[in-house]
Amino acid sequence: MKIYEHYSLKALNTFGIEAQARYFCSLRTLGGLKAVMLWRREHPELPVLFLGGGSNMLFIADFPGMVVQVRLAERKVIADDQNYVYVRAGAGENWHDFVRWTIEQGYAGLENLSLIPGTVGAAPMQNIGAYGVELKDHFYELDALDWRTAELRKFSLDDCAFAYRDSHFKSVEPGRWLIGAVTFRLPKHPIWKTDYAGVSEYLADKTLDARTISDAIIAIRQSKLPDPAVIGNAGSFFKNPLVTADEFTAIKAKFPNCPAWPQDQLVKLSAGWLIDQCGWKGKRVGDAGTYDQHALVLVNHGQATGAEIWQFAQAIIASVQAKFGVILEAEPNVIGATT
Ligand code: EPU
Repeated sequence: MKIYEHYSLKALNTFGIEAQARYFCSLRTLGGLKAVMLWRREHPELPVLFLGGGSNMLFIADFPGMVVQVRLAERKVIADDQNYVYVRAGAGENWHDFVRWTIEQGYAGLENLSLIPGTVGAAPMQNIGAYGVELKDHFYELDALDWRTAELRKFSLDDCAFAYRDSHFKSVEPGRWLIGAVTFRLPKHPIWKTDYAGVSEYLADKTLDARTISDAIIAIRQSKLPDPAVIGNAGSFFKNPLVTADEFTAIKAKFPNCPAWPQDQLVKLSAGWLIDQCGWKGKRVGDAGTYDQHALVLVNHGQATGAEIWQFAQAIIASVQAKFGVILEAEPNVIGATT
């Protein structure tokens, strides 16, 4: 396996940020990890970063250690029972291509998650979700490798501690586990989830099946979200914040139109709405900006550096906090952050 030095990551992150990896390699088989482990023995002080599609990352500085691009390929039906089919996918598979492949095989479950950028292996990291469905809803198990010891371990649904845009791999043991493959449990008698605002209207006169719903989700996403191939972005840049019922009552008194969704004991607000209300939609500072169709998506208009995007994000956080008293949390992994 070839190890490159001073490798540009510009084409490997959907923000299109110019950042360099001090060392870089592509991992096509788990066996290739031996080379990474050997390298690590020689450079114990340097960090290692596993990279999927680079669709949920903001590099605000060059990466001083080894970036390993995970390209493990596999798509396989591994089991089948009365109610479910179990499908396994390699971490390096493109997420959307895998979703469409399951639909072509006649399987349902992942259609609402169509067109999410990134790879299968990165998907559990932040429990990707869209239009009323999260990865955890159809997850069965995953194979991960503790790359420091080469211990191979299966993680069940419970082990993964999935939560809203969060998982064991993101919050509890970041950087320890390399996800190698993910197994999904797809229902043979699906219950379609089409009640999300905008989706039900789009599908009103249609006969529902996985392909039709997937096509609708693709069209809706394309109308709202920027295509990273055209304009650099990492999807939603902030999580939708959760506030207490009392905090919400205070916000609602001042801003009666504030959209909100009850969530257990808390209330989920729309980060996009909050940012929009602060006047940020379509705003631009140099080449850093928000998308003109959706204030939650930060974009790189061309030559923005990661630090400029991050600075722009801090200005948004400050103004949302000043107006609503709510602190937004970044959704992508910010690489090189000191705060
Ligand atoms: N809104 C505004 N102004 C805006 C954008 C949104 O007022 O500029 C309002 C909308 O009117 C709506 C509300 O905000 O009432 C919610 O908007 P939307 O339906 O677009 O969903 P979202 O909460 O902004 C979340 C996910 C998206 C996912 C969509 C659809 C997060 C952080 N984002 O966005 O996920 O596609 O729901 O399910 O949860 C991603 O994670 O990268 C991502 C794109």
